[in-house]
Amino acid sequence: MTAPDLPTELKAALDARLQGVSRNEAAGSAASISRTYRDGGGSAAIRSETDALAYALARMPATYAAVTASLNALRQITPHFAPQNLLDVGAGPGTASWAAAEAFSSLQHFALLDANSALRALALDLAAGSSRLRDIDYRRGEARAALADADPADLVVASYMIAEVGDAERGALTGLMWAKTRDTLLIVEPGTPAGYGRIISLREQLIAVGAHVAAPCPHDGQCPLSTPDWCHFTQRLPRSRAHKQVKEAELPFEDEKFGYVALTRAPVAARSARVLAQPVVTKIEVTAKLCTPEGLVIAKVPRRAKADYARARRWRWGDAGAAED
Ligand SMILES: C[S@@+](CC[C@H](N)C(=O)[O-])C[C@H]1O[C@@H](n2cnc3c(N)ncnc32)[C@H](O)[C@@H]1O
Repeated sequence: MTAPDLPTELKAALDARLQGVSRNEAAGSAASISRTYRDGGGSAAIRSETDALAYALARMPATYAAVTASLNALRQITPHFAPQNLLDVGAGPGTASWAAAEAFSSLQHFALLDANSALRALALDLAAGSSRLRDIDYRRGEARAALADADPADLVVASYMIAEVGDAERGALTGLMWAKTRDTLLIVEPGTPAGYGRIISLREQLIAVGAHVAAPCPHDGQCPLSTPDWCHFTQRLPRSRAHKQVKEAELPFEDEKFGYVALTRAPVAARSARVLAQPVVTKIEVTAKLCTPEGLVIAKVPRRAKADYARARRWRWGDAGAAED
């Protein structure tokens, strides 16, 4: 499985881009972009080279970690999946392409598309020195138009992108992305109730036209969670010095909350219960919230069931295979 921190080549490329850029200017730009996001705006606020770099320094480590965790979960369920080509929709600085390149050595062709010129320019610059990514094909354009012209790919990914597409357009975009998916479509979103809502609705839309869920759900049925609960996961990632400076943060790590769904054309052979929150371990029992093919289960594994208890102590939020490993 792939580590959640940025690959060495990408870190070096980001550091090189940072040479000669004022950290204060980058931090100011990152703060203003974050404010725009908090106020419900999107990446349209990213216009200049410094904006694009500030966005990448502040957010790329976290979105990379979330995509990597989602790809790790997918690989665990479909270990023989070996995509040759990738389509990265709303690719921004190329985060998901970098994560997919690390996860799948089989990938040979990377097609990216995005409406934002500054992020596209940065992505091309970051990829220029990479052995795997230097020949990426990165189209600038509005997603629906650019998708219509794109070749189908074994793996299609939209990472932290759907949130920026209006409600009215989302269904059509989802349909188009699925039409371009030969094998697997992965959607990653912020781990908020709103992100979950978007994932659930596109999951439902695509199951209705024949898609199957590979992860995180162990079934293609209705999600058993109900408001105010929502399905999400968390990934811890290290913060580099530049990352801390741009975010004006002290802690050497951050925890990224994310949601995802991986949908496949073929039914998935074996799916088992997924751990939906960090289990509570006491000396008496392990209590774990599990999504199972039969619905939501709060599993209690008593200490006296020695072997089961020892196994349950190792369960982590997001793991698959609980209740049977
Ligand atoms: C939050 S960024 C995520 C970038 C990247 N996928 C990542 O995970 O770091 C969202 C990206 O989606 C792009 N985007 C949003 N709506 C779009 C649209 N309708 N057509 C093309 N790109 C779009 C934005 O330009 C931006 O680069």
